Formats: sequence, C-alpha cells, structure tokens
Amino acid sequence: MSDLAKKLFIKTYGCQMNVYDSARMADVLAPLGYAPAKDAADADMVILNTCHIREKASEKVFGELGRLRLQQDRHRGAGRDMIIAVAGCVAQAEGAEIMARAPYVDIVLGPQTYHRLPEMVARAARAHGAKDGRRAGAHLLDTEFPVESKFDHLPELQAGQGISAFLSVQEGCDKFCTFCVVPYTRGAEFSRPAADIAAEARRLVSAGAREVTLLGQNVNAYHGASPRTVGGTPAMEWGLGRLIHYLAEIDGLERIRYTTSHPRDMDDDLIDAHGEVAKLMPYLHLPVQSGSDRILAAMNRHHDSAAYLRAIEKLRARRPDLALSSDFIVGFPGESEDDFAATLHLVEDVGYAQAYSFKYSARPGTPAATMPHQVLEEAKAERLERLQLLLRRQQESFNAATVGRTVPVLFEREGRHAGQLVGRSPYLQAVHATAPGLMGEIAEVVIEAVHPNSLAGRLAEAAARPRPTMAPREAALPA
Ligand code: 5AD
Ligand code: SF4
Repeated sequence: MSDLAKKLFIKTYGCQMNVYDSARMADVLAPLGYAPAKDAADADMVILNTCHIREKASEKVFGELGRLRLQQDRHRGAGRDMIIAVAGCVAQAEGAEIMARAPYVDIVLGPQTYHRLPEMVARAARAHGAKDGRRAGAHLLDTEFPVESKFDHLPELQAGQGISAFLSVQEGCDKFCTFCVVPYTRGAEFSRPAADIAAEARRLVSAGAREVTLLGQNVNAYHGASPRTVGGTPAMEWGLGRLIHYLAEIDGLERIRYTTSHPRDMDDDLIDAHGEVAKLMPYLHLPVQSGSDRILAAMNRHHDSAAYLRAIEKLRARRPDLALSSDFIVGFPGESEDDFAATLHLVEDVGYAQAYSFKYSARPGTPAATMPHQVLEEAKAERLERLQLLLRRQQESFNAATVGRTVPVLFEREGRHAGQLVGRSPYLQAVHATAPGLMGEIAEVVIEAVHPNSLAGRLAEAAARPRPTMAPREAALPA
C-alpha cells in the first residue's frame, strides 16, 4: 500500500476541546499521507482521543482497546498493519497503566504533546516493520507537560472545520475544583496570543466558517498577549471580553460563542461584551455545579450561590434575551438533602434553557475522592432523577416558547429531505427548515413545531426571496 493511501480513524470522547484536538491531530498526520477513514475496520491507524472527566472513563477505553486489538489481528491476518494510539486525558492520567494492560497499544500521548505525533507514528511504523507484525506495540509514551506551548508546533488548519468551527484560545486550569482531574491532566492555564487567535479565525472564515466557538477548559480565565507591541513585546494582556471585541471586527464572521467559563472569571469587561457585541450569541454555558454554599466551598469553586446569581443578574441587565446552560454534580461528598434542595432552588431561580447533570464520581488523585461522607449510589441516582426532571421541564418550556417566534438560523448541514437544511438558533437549538441555497447563511425562520431534540420552521417571507450569489469573502481584520 502506498504511503499516500493510509487511512486514519479518530474516535473522540468528551468535550469540544477534544473535538478540536482530534481535528488538529488529523491535520498533523495529513502530511504523512493519512486521510480520514470511515471506521476502525477501514483504518491503518486508530487514535482514541479520551476524556477522563466522568465515571468509568478508563474502563470504557480499555473496552474499546480490546475491540481494536481484535481488529488489529484481523488486519494483520490480511497482511495489513494497524497503529493504535491513545491520546487525551486518560492517556495523560493513566499512560503507564495503558502500556502495561494493553501492550499492543503503540502510542500513548497526553494533550500537550500532539505536535510530536508525526515523529511517534514514524517510529511506531518502523517498530512494526522490525517486529514483523508481532503483537507487541511500539511502546511510545509521551505525556509530559512541556514548557513551550503545543500551539507553537501545530500546523495551521489545513481545511475549514465547517460553517461552525471551534477555536482553542486557552488550555489548562488553575482552579483545582476538588472533584476535577483537568488541572492534573491538562496542566496549568495557558492563553494563546490574541494575534494568533485572530489569524486562525480569519483562516477559518476564509475556509467557510460563519461561527466560531472559542474553546478553553476555563475559557474566561483567558489572559493572552495583546496584538499591539511596544519594542517587540506585547503592550499588555487582554481578557476574553477584549478578545471578543477584536474578533467581532472580522468581516464574514457572524457569530461568536465561548465555552466553558467559570463564574469566578465573569469579569465586567466580559459581561459588558454581552451587551456591546451583537455577534456574541445570547447563550452562555456557565456551570455552577451546586446551589449549596457549603458544597460549593467543599468543591473549592471560589464563589457562593449569591455571587453566581449576581453575575447572571448583571449579564441579563446587559442582554435581556440571554439564556443559560449549566453543569451540575449531585451527590458530592457530604451533600445532604438540604444541600440538594438548595441546588433545586437555584435552578428554579435561574431558569435554564439547557443543562448537563451528573452523579458525582470519584476521580483517583483528586481531593474529593478521599473526602468522608461519600453519598450512597441510590441517593445520587434519586437526586439526579429529580434534578433532571426539573431541568427537562425548563428546557421544554424554553423550547415551547419559541413556537410562533421568528429566529435567525445559521444553516450548517443538509437535512433528511430534499431542500431541507438544519441550522442553529442563537440558543444552539437545532432548527429544520426548507431553505434551498441557504447553506452557510443566516436566515429568519418562523418556528412552527417543537420536537424532542429540534425545532422545525419555515423561512420568514423576506428570507425566502432568492438572494444574489455572494462573492467569496475575504476575512479582514482592521489594522
Ligand atoms: N464527577 C461528576 N461530574 C464531574 N464533572 C467533572 N468532574 C466530575 C466528577 N468527578 C462534570 C462537571 C463539569 C463537567 C464537564 O463534568 O459538572 O463541569
Ligand atoms: Fe475542572 Fe474546576 Fe478547572 Fe472546570 S474550573 S476545569 S471543573 S478544575
């Protein structure tokens, strides 16, 4: 098989940061001749890009590795090679264990070392040749936190990620919430310089993106070098609010979002940006985790429920149509019925458009894992059910309230029926409509029906009129 015909399959678990990282790994491997495979059976190399954040993550990875080993055997029976790599947070946290338990794995690499992937793949391929197809993997482990940034080494994006693209602006976290592995797996906070981010945003827009979601584990802790320099060094650091203002000036970029933010880092600049930047979508994922001040303190969240509610009040004062989403953990060690009732209370107070909720699960190495008064599984399950019922009701009424309204929809993919497109409302609701020729465009849609996971509507009169073909857009930042 020629070098240019190799196929790469990446299975991505977890957060949008991992989705972004998977795209970058595909980019760094493209020059080695790896094109996307449709599944593992079709692949010469498989990467599991793992997430460690919740329950049984590593067991799922080992289960998947067991299946890949069988696939690798089938490939070898057919005279074909298959390199297996494990990337992401499970790799970072449990690299040595993966090598020991799954010796057929070739490469284990942490989130900070993706730029070294081509070299590792070349070494793995050489090792496979030398071993003549025997089962032992190449045993390449690279989970260091290098001092320099991986962003400096990754190639510029080869292709657009589509109409709605992710753009990583910040990595790592210094918050050390007591339940969370991120500070250990992703390392200390690091922000990219604003000029690099703007350059990548411009490239994405020239490749067809109309929306970017700025990504970071703790995205609103962003503090990157400003583009202005004095004597060769950045004049100052910018926060996320300032960065959003700057990116909003890019022609052709129509929508900006960011995730995931921490209530503590919701500074006035960022809150004001919600009122000042029309391109910043009125939808914010702002995890609170719990409504109980006692539990928030035990979680080391650095804020209480009043501070969270105050931030929301300020945001809504700037942007009255703002809708919110959150993450919740139930059954954190020591959580009493009263603590849980405080969470339900907070949910009632805020009124969420959408939310994720999880049972607390102990992550080895985190402080909460060894805290006393771990909550019984049945109590966690029962609380989760109550919380999810309430959140589901709120989500349903939020969606139901859109019926009859006209909302701007950015169309980003084909629907199931001819002429039908699927897009997103400002609140990330999937909207189906017959909208021929409007791919990549924002059009006003009258919402007519609510389905469990989407809305359906028809183009508003003005939007249905034929539009002139648009000239290719040049993304430009003002000097
Ligand atoms: N147990 C349960 N949920 C967790 N999360 C993070 N760590 C844990 C854990 N140990 C949830 C948090 C976080 C989201 C991404 O995952 O709610 O915001
Ligand atoms: Fe984890 Fe807390 Fe950092 Fe979020 S803020 S990544 S929950 S430590």
